Amino acid sequence: MPRGPRAPLIIGSGIAGLYVALRARELGLSPTIVTKSAIDEANTRYAQGGIAAAVGPGDSVDLHLRDTLRAGAGLVDRSAALRLTHEAPARIADLVRYGVPFDTVEGQIALGREAAHSRARILHAGGDATGLQIEETLKVRVLESDIEVRERAVLRRLTVERTGIAATLSRPDGSAVEVVRGRPVVLATGGAGSLYRESSNPAIATGEGVAIAFRAGARIADMEFLQFHPTTFCRPGAPRFLLTEALRGEGAVLRGDDGERFMPRYDRAAELAPRDVVTRAIQNELVRTGARCVYLDATALPAERLFARFPTVCRFLAGYDLDPSRDRIPVVPAAHYMIGGVATDLEGHTSLRGLLACGEVTSTGVHGANRLASNSLLEGLVFGEHVARDLARPRRGSPPAAGRLLALPVPAGEGHGADRSVTREVRDILWDRVGIVREGSTLERAVRRLNALALRCEPPDPGDLPGPVANHVELARLIATSALARTESRGAHFRSDYPRSQARWRLHLGIERAPLP
Ligand code: SIN
Repeated sequence: MPRGPRAPLIIGSGIAGLYVALRARELGLSPTIVTKSAIDEANTRYAQGGIAAAVGPGDSVDLHLRDTLRAGAGLVDRSAALRLTHEAPARIADLVRYGVPFDTVEGQIALGREAAHSRARILHAGGDATGLQIEETLKVRVLESDIEVRERAVLRRLTVERTGIAATLSRPDGSAVEVVRGRPVVLATGGAGSLYRESSNPAIATGEGVAIAFRAGARIADMEFLQFHPTTFCRPGAPRFLLTEALRGEGAVLRGDDGERFMPRYDRAAELAPRDVVTRAIQNELVRTGARCVYLDATALPAERLFARFPTVCRFLAGYDLDPSRDRIPVVPAAHYMIGGVATDLEGHTSLRGLLACGEVTSTGVHGANRLASNSLLEGLVFGEHVARDLARPRRGSPPAAGRLLALPVPAGEGHGADRSVTREVRDILWDRVGIVREGSTLERAVRRLNALALRCEPPDPGDLPGPVANHVELARLIATSALARTESRGAHFRSDYPRSQARWRLHLGIERAPLP
């Protein structure tokens, strides 16, 4: 393995990790990508809708900025959103240069509409296979290059040392532990949707990167804002397959069991209201009617258009004998995107020197309390670019101070109970008690139970490596503790006991590991 400051270790191989590696190589560095599964098994691969950028006629970066600020419910960091939206067209040009085959109409890039966007500005590829096309294209570029790739290498620990960050890696079965020193580390490990029982994410999206950074002392922020996607497939025994928001952008509507189109009762923008609004409306309808699901109705769309624009969705539904041009599709909300994460500044600096981060694993404040659709792939590129530049010409920086900071102790535990049943329980706790609608006493119970699980799963000796299950518990504690602390409702975080937003909570909630006694 190469060594030294010009040989960054990039952890994760979704859009953020692959893009940083490619750009770092172009800037003369010798990166290594470390990824816990195969290089192309990342959440990015499953992104359907697309990637937002103001590149169409009648659009502007300022309109994209305005929509991002509005969706974020008063908590978007304006400078981060300015960077995201204004640099989007240049990053799209990079993807085109790498060969991403964006869909076109009459020679022009085709642009779709999604909720809370005032213009059609969603680029897509392969119809609804945008993430897959991006992941595959970037993977091929990486494999053609001399970038070192280490698959099935799992990040186990980050340690702050005098000379920088040491990264402990192992094989997935815990064998072959090695410590890598003397190289900048970039966390691009993605989100944690799969820690919820009902999730649109692939099984690998369990957010260990955040838990590991937290253990090392990095500041974490905004963990209460876990975004739920309104429309995932609902059939007993079937996965919560995503039914992209672009379907509603094309005109699909939501109906209850009785056939009523209910969204106009909730918001003027109806099905194109921000994601948190649509999610809560569906949840409310489910509670109100006792129904198991609501229905996505795309039957008014021309069949040809549906099959051309949404081939992945149509293929999936065909496996359940459903045809969206004829059938209403049963849907429910599910956990989708981690808005919070490792706090960074706009260059990707975390609060630990030598540790950079970008993509879903981070909290830059760019999404505020509710991410605008299709701003997530974009985030990986825009902030990834600044991480690559920083690796090439390092500068000092750190995330802005949190408006309020919690200190969470990590207990010394018994370390013997960390089996898969604990991860199953964590997923149930998060979905049942830290879900779409939250409430103080239920959150308290969740925190108490998670603390008990931490005692069971943490290794007794702080020198021992915590396993993945202990990291799942840790991450769930970060989410539940933050959700309990924020006594208001805002964006993706809704508290039935505090149903309104409050001016005193217009701040980011940070959380750090309490020092050992
Ligand atoms: C979708 O296609 O609906 C998901 C897009 C996103 O999460 O931004």
